[in-house]
Order: sequence, then structure tokens, then C-alpha cells
Amino acid sequence: MAISVQINGRSYTVDVDGDTPLLWVLRDVLGLTGTKFGCGQALCGACTVHVDGVATRSCVTAIESVEGSRITTIEALHTVAHGKALQDAWIELEVPQCGYCQSGQLMSAAALLNEIPRPTDDDINGAMSGNVCRCGTYQRIRAAIKRASA
Ligand code: FES
Ligand code: FES
Repeated sequence: MAISVQINGRSYTVDVDGDTPLLWVLRDVLGLTGTKFGCGQALCGACTVHVDGVATRSCVTAIESVEGSRITTIEALHTVAHGKALQDAWIELEVPQCGYCQSGQLMSAAALLNEIPRPTDDDINGAMSGNVCRCGTYQRIRAAIKRASA
């Protein structure tokens, strides 16, 4: 079926089943491969994007459920509030190790700062607890969020 979606400020019409996960539309249909597959079960956060500014696990989000919504992926992080500040802080503090989880981490962090521009440690822990990092970059992620929000 033809489904119209708005991604990173552009309109697309994709011909897929309505229950196709948004993640696979992004990666396989549109070639936006910055959003990663980790668990496929909303458990790791690697696939996090924004749907109308809210951090959303794209691996369990049916494409038909986001028709008409404003979707933002890591490729357009610099266009959202605090996105550039987060990118700069991530680079300054050398946050990534293997990098696999990092696009999801950044999208969750941007959604947090969008909602709470000056988050407390508890706010950060709550917002980021669903984003897993097998390389253990948690301390640097939290420090980078603090820096970006300063
Ligand atoms: S791949 Fe979506 S939460 Fe893990
Ligand atoms: S940087 Fe390797 S999984 Fe997070």
C-alpha cells in the first residue's frame, strides 16, 4: 500500500505493508542507514528516532501509525533544538567507542533536552535508561548531555 511520510523535512511515499516497522522503511527503502537495528523488540534503543519530537523505537513502530507525523532521524539531528550542541559535546568528550548505539543515544538525548533543557541527573538517567551501550560509554554520555545543556 502507498503510505506518505514526512522524514527530515521531506515528503516520501513508500509502497510497503502498513505493519512494516518504520526502521526498515528508513534503512531498506529510503537508505537512511544511520538508524541502527539492535534487538528489534524495543529493548536496546539503537533504533531511536523522533516522531513529532518524541523519542520513539522505530523497530516496533508500524509505518502506518506514523503517517502524517513528523519524523526526524540521526541524519537531521543538527536541525533539531540542541542537536548541534549535542554533536559538539559528543565530539569534545570523545563519547563513542564502537559507535553502534550512538545514533540512538543522541536521538534520546535530543528528545530529553527538547523536553527538559536543564535536566537533573535523575532526568538524564530516566530518559537514557532504555538506551543500551555494550561499550559502556554511559558516563561520557551523561557528561556530554550536561555540557550540551549548559
Ligand atoms: S532495535 Fe529497536 S529498541 Fe533495539
Ligand atoms: S559505543 Fe559501542 S555499543 Fe555503544
